[in-house]
Amino acid sequence: MNLQDLIIKKRDGLAHSQEEIEYLVKNISEGTMPDYQVAAWAMAVFFQGMNKEETRDLALAMAYSGEVADLTSVEGIPVDKHSTGGVGDKTTMVVIPLVAAAGVPVAKMSGRGLGHTGGTIDKFESIPGFQVEMEHRAFIKQVNDIKAAVVAQSGRLVPADKRLYAIRDLTGTVESLPLIAASVMSKKIASGAQGIVLDVKVGSGAFMKNETEARALAQAMVDIGRGAGREVAALLSNMQQPLGRMVGNALEVREAIDTLKGEGPADLTEISILLAAYMLMIGGKFSDLQSAQACAGEMLNTGLGLKKFQAMVEAQGGILDCNIPGYGLKQASMQQAVMAEGEGYVSGLDALEIGRIVMHLGAGREKLGDIIDHAVGIELVKKYGDAVNIGDTLAVIHANDKDKLEIAAVNLKHAFQISSQVPEPKPLILGVIK
Ligand code: URA
Repeated sequence: MNLQDLIIKKRDGLAHSQEEIEYLVKNISEGTMPDYQVAAWAMAVFFQGMNKEETRDLALAMAYSGEVADLTSVEGIPVDKHSTGGVGDKTTMVVIPLVAAAGVPVAKMSGRGLGHTGGTIDKFESIPGFQVEMEHRAFIKQVNDIKAAVVAQSGRLVPADKRLYAIRDLTGTVESLPLIAASVMSKKIASGAQGIVLDVKVGSGAFMKNETEARALAQAMVDIGRGAGREVAALLSNMQQPLGRMVGNALEVREAIDTLKGEGPADLTEISILLAAYMLMIGGKFSDLQSAQACAGEMLNTGLGLKKFQAMVEAQGGILDCNIPGYGLKQASMQQAVMAEGEGYVSGLDALEIGRIVMHLGAGREKLGDIIDHAVGIELVKKYGDAVNIGDTLAVIHANDKDKLEIAAVNLKHAFQISSQVPEPKPLILGVIK
């Protein structure tokens, strides 16, 4: 087999056989396919797509390109959740403790953020002392002891995806349905969870900009997971505006804790309870959604979820005090309000733009290896549909650098669209694929 022939085959719109996919993945993970050939092949896939069988074969070949986590000694059915990436998406920090408090084990391996979307590991690392690296045995022990642990995905898992994703990120080939589906599912399969709940984001702040594409992505991922013997459900959720009010690592931890105290924003609370409910069903605790949602709501309302969050943070070396203002998290040195210059209603709040502004403030990475500032970010005071008067605060910028703050203040105004008409309400949950 010849790599150049395989690139030409895909360029010409033909389907790869399983052997060809395995050959490509082997060469990608071993580094014997040079970057320029990987990039050319990814671009060919971007334009020509892949059929269902090719997408499944790619996911499985990548999943087994490195180590595969063994969760067989976890007591119960280990469940995991995965978001395809959004802005202000801190649901994992709320959902893990709700599910664990209800008795279903969550052994979570997460990634770091890249580009305008934040990463769960970066958010947890904004908790002073929180350790995201753990020996596998310690990870399993923590899951068995307290039902919840979150670690950074080991570099030994899915090396093929690691390399392919890094090249896609620099070559305009991220937004490809089969490549995203195979990338996400290879990591989920390799991380060993038996049950997987996917949160597929739709909108300006997501990789999938419209519902039709997102639905197709969700279906592709569900098919791959089922083909690999996993229980999978997928939600489609709106990412036209950021989720919740906080965007930026420590600010998002703060909002997750507020939510676990029952004082969080309605959208974050709603989606967290729904995701937790699907995880409880997949984890074998309930067979109907209503009972599962009631249980997740109870874990939130009784404070048991918050207790579980504190137990997990403590077990991983984190230092937090949920009884003091700011919870002991880092705070930026400067805070500046951005005021409305017109009146009306917020008819658009561009998630992609907010994600970019927050990244440029220092909360995200422009390239792999960039050091991030956990304290900076944006607090959205007004959101889609809210009434606005001249001089009202639209948002508050949290910054540690005066120049970056000034740029953020200018750009933030453009992220808000104000109109005289009350905008159509938009649902947060767009569908479920079970
Ligand atoms: N998230 C992933 O893990 N992979 C992709 O390709 C896109 C989003």
